[in-house]
Amino acid sequence: MERKPFAPAVPSKIPDLRRARFVTRRWQSYDESMDRLPADEPDPVANWDLAGSSPEATWERISNELVAAASSGKHLLHLPTIVTVGPDGFPQARTVVLRYFDPARREAWFHTDIRSGKVTDITREPRVALHWYVPSSRLQIRIPAIATVHTGDERARAAWNGSATMSRACYTADAPGTPLDTFPRAPRQPAVDDDAGFEMFAAVGCQFDELDLLTLHAAGHQRVRLDLRQTPPTWQILAP
Ligand SMILES: Cc1cc2nc3c(=O)[nH]c(=O)nc-3n(C[C@H](O)[C@H](O)[C@H](O)COP(=O)(O)O)c2cc1C
Repeated sequence: MERKPFAPAVPSKIPDLRRARFVTRRWQSYDESMDRLPADEPDPVANWDLAGSSPEATWERISNELVAAASSGKHLLHLPTIVTVGPDGFPQARTVVLRYFDPARREAWFHTDIRSGKVTDITREPRVALHWYVPSSRLQIRIPAIATVHTGDERARAAWNGSATMSRACYTADAPGTPLDTFPRAPRQPAVDDDAGFEMFAAVGCQFDELDLLTLHAAGHQRVRLDLRQTPPTWQILAP
């Protein structure tokens, strides 16, 4: 049978994005974020049918998921892609760990090295895009945002103090993107009070006013632009 464009391969169950039993409340390095649920763990069923929801309920649900995603390496929204514009005008996309999500301020936060290409890009052009796709839920989230880099300030200090020592290790290594002759060894885990990497550490806040959501359904895909500038939020239905 011929499948429609984007038609889901498995039409029946749509798993939830959150696996509450596995939620942990600690900061994780991205190495730690890569462990996944056991393959035999059943997914709770979640319905991402936007037609049966409202802009307000959809924002509440998405923001709750993103809050949970920032605290759990097991959450399917834990690893967004952030896209910046390089100095040559080419877009640059890479994975980061979602470290904090603030629904009231509409901010998504990640940590990075001030020597990285993305910081150079953001300093020059703060307009960025965040992207997630969860195949098992057939949900795409796109967020255009304005990024602000915090380094050496209170915000950076709070983020640094809350981060795991293993996550801090990379900030004393070679700058991201440095050409090397051989693959580097993993940096050693610093002591809890070792502040050596702090001067290279940045917490980046991405502030946004709208989201583009797409959910795939055999009966018809659903796409909306959710506008958060007013309360309650509104949405515009869009052709998928
Ligand atoms: C699963 C995963 C998580 C990552 N998390 C981060 C992160 O939180 N912060 C970060 O700066 N880089 C992270 N990285 C590395 C980036 O994707 C990227 O390779 C690196 O930051 C250099 O990017 P840039 O040169 O474009 O700035 C992660 C990579 C993977 C695969």
